[in-house]
Amino acid sequence: MQSLLSTLKVRGFQLKNRIVMPPMATELATEEGHVTDELIEHYVNRCKYLGLLIIEHSYVSIEGKISPRQLGIYNDKLIDGLKQLVNEVHKYMKPVVIQINHGGGKASSKITGIKPIAPSPIMVPGGVEEPKEMTLEDIERVLEAFEKAAKRAIEAGFDGVEIHGAHGFLLNQFTSPITNKRLDAYGRTMEGRFRFPLEVVEKIRKVIGNKLLLYRLGADDMMPGGLTIKESRIFAAKLESLGVDIIDVSGGLCGSRPAHLTGQGYFIPLAEKIREVVEIPVIGVGGIKDPEFADKVIREGRVDLVAIGREMLRDPKWAEKAVNKLKGK
Ligand SMILES: Cc1cc2nc3c(=O)[nH]c(=O)nc-3n(C[C@H](O)[C@H](O)[C@H](O)COP(=O)(O)O)c2cc1C
Repeated sequence: MQSLLSTLKVRGFQLKNRIVMPPMATELATEEGHVTDELIEHYVNRCKYLGLLIIEHSYVSIEGKISPRQLGIYNDKLIDGLKQLVNEVHKYMKPVVIQINHGGGKASSKITGIKPIAPSPIMVPGGVEEPKEMTLEDIERVLEAFEKAAKRAIEAGFDGVEIHGAHGFLLNQFTSPITNKRLDAYGRTMEGRFRFPLEVVEKIRKVIGNKLLLYRLGADDMMPGGLTIKESRIFAAKLESLGVDIIDVSGGLCGSRPAHLTGQGYFIPLAEKIREVVEIPVIGVGGIKDPEFADKVIREGRVDLVAIGREMLRDPKWAEKAVNKLKGK
């Protein structure tokens, strides 16, 4: 039987346990998106006992930037700082991957100086202004931005990348029937809505060689008329067939912590439903506080990995304490 402390082998990487620190924006980068000493310290303080570290969402192009001091990966000049971050973390653990993101219609021209773009010209829940509908040229350009960002991540030494496909950001805007009203090949049908995110996956799988590819899947929009788990199961199977190594299940078109969801493990049921249709490991998340709870969901075979977000922000030693407690120390 597997437990929270069991190792896990994924594409040649050996995870020392099943504890994941999920991506969480710190606002510790510079205004241009460069890594800072504070940002490095934040991760070094938390990484030592983790099985897998996912660095916060980094923007693949300026127009997709979400917040003033978000981490960036949109330009080669950012690689040196990212290298420093990886080198410091690698002194203590592997693998470390970085999440790459484009905010789409959730971006704001006040921050980027550019009118936001999205699949359709409608307000995105949680957005601040009406975006411009993406042309086919825009789609091509953003695809290239994702590809280049992934290459930079590998050049910086990361063990892989996580594509952000949740929480109402661009790729979730494509999969969601609420925000994707396109009538061309990138919308209209379910296959159409899935097309662009899957193109991003395909492209990135090709350029990262044998490194890890994770996808953060917004598996349910949690809004009437939104994407549901039924369609997400079909999407997840496609992710697996395109070479995704781990699916990181989350949800909520309006954000990662829908107000009506409470209690420990609130996205575990969604993750379980995804796990039923794929062979690759699945991460579960949502309100988890106790090591015993995290251990239980692994032992019961509900998910393969457990992510601990806010508790790790609150207590940098969460993973260390969990490991020692479960070992009976
Ligand atoms: C401050 C903060 C920043 C976050 N930033 C990101 C992010 O960059 N990318 C992402 O996919 N999720 C992000 N999330 C969501 C977390 O990864 C996680 O899914 C969520 O907090 C639920 O887990 P928890 O209940 O253990 O905190 C963020 C959450 C918090 C609290």
